[in-house]
Amino acid sequence: MKKIQVINGPNLNLLGVREPSVYGNTPFERYLESLQKIYPQCKFAYYQSNIEGELIQKIHETGFSFDGIVLNAGAYTHTSIALHDAIKAVTTPVVEVHISNVYTREPFRHKSLLSAACKGLIAGFGMDSYRLAVEALLTVNNEG
Ligand code: DQA
Repeated sequence: MKKIQVINGPNLNLLGVREPSVYGNTPFERYLESLQKIYPQCKFAYYQSNIEGELIQKIHETGFSFDGIVLNAGAYTHTSIALHDAIKAVTTPVVEVHISNVYTREPFRHKSLLSAACKGLIAGFGMDSYRLAVEALLTVNNEG
């Protein structure tokens, strides 16, 4: 059984009601149920926080024992050196995820401080971005 930690950052507790034209209509908890059905070989843990330090704490807690972390850090993606350092500090591979294609949006979303610390990056596929991140964690060689 693969242990996958999904971490959502600020404002992502409002998925389903927040800017549906950008982020869709599905609450994350409901999406997670469908993800669990697609991957019975995985055990998903879910954590959401609007607080940067709590996200860092969760990366520390799970980043040495889980098989993968799927991280949508929301707007902290564009600002947080501390999250970059947390990802670098742990051994579990982290995949950066965005629901929207941040590169088609405002210029301040075009820079990620996290990508360089992550195993890889998936953006722009709606909620399916999370599934693609799981797929990547399960199929790619995570040694290098
Ligand atoms: C987001 C993109 C970020 O720029 C934004 O601040 C979010 C969500 C996405 O999933 O598309 O909160 O990470």
